[in-house]
Amino acid sequence: GAGWIAVAGYEEVPEDGTLASRMEDVSVCLYKVEGEIYATDNQCTHGDAELSEGLIQDGCLIECPLHEGMFDIRTGKAVSPPCTRDIRSYEAKVEGAVIYLRTS
Ligand code: FES
Repeated sequence: GAGWIAVAGYEEVPEDGTLASRMEDVSVCLYKVEGEIYATDNQCTHGDAELSEGLIQDGCLIECPLHEGMFDIRTGKAVSPPCTRDIRSYEAKVEGAVIYLRTS
């Protein structure tokens, strides 16, 4: 069944920045935009790159550091070439300054 897993402290994620973390055996990327936390897979679906090394654009997109493809951090949708396969996005919540992601 679904549950919540603690992945990082809220203050560990820089504003308008990213933090790599792990949820069970999955490498995830956490984002903070205007105080809101978002989470997706950290591995780009186009190649061997970690999205946590990329830049947040327009407040809702992550630009891959390797070939500048982009994903929507809210949905994981691939929105810019060469990325065509979506990444997973995760529901996040903050409780007591701790970030939790929902497992499925
Ligand atoms: Fe991410 Fe190519 S590896 S766009």
